[in-house]
Amino acid sequence: MLIRKKLTFLVFLMPFVGNVAASGLHLSGDIAAGQRLHQARCSGCHVQQFGGDGSGVYLRTPRRVTNVQELVAFANRLQHFNRKMDPNLQLDEIQMGNIIAYINKYYYHFY
Ligand code: HEC
Repeated sequence: MLIRKKLTFLVFLMPFVGNVAASGLHLSGDIAAGQRLHQARCSGCHVQQFGGDGSGVYLRTPRRVTNVQELVAFANRLQHFNRKMDPNLQLDEIQMGNIIAYINKYYYHFY
């Protein structure tokens, strides 16, 4: 499965992430780098769509993302949003892993 293969490359290893570790996915990332990327690539659109500083998208009830697998899956979908915004700005797996680490630390707290 193409998506599954992509996800495998998406993030780095963090052994204590239960199901994710079991599936071969591991998560860690450079949170500071993720925050900068998130500011540059993600926040603008969330602010437009949700107001405030845009973080409402992560804090709303109900939210779409309820576990770490969904967060990773959503991040892949978000590359579509990213392409829509600017076809020249592509995020690679390492950058996306950093963004996920940042979002997780400040909003979702899955791991
Ligand atoms: C072009 C606009 C746009 C861009 C760019 C964008 N987003 Fe979003 N994002 C949205 C919209 C709209 C939703 C709500 C989608 C829905 O409800 O189905 C959303 C939802 C989300 C969610 C799910 C929130 C929940 O309910 O739990 C996550 C996670 C997320 N975005 C992360 C990101 C990240 C990370 C980036 C940057 C890589 C990003 N987004 C870039 C528009 C955008």
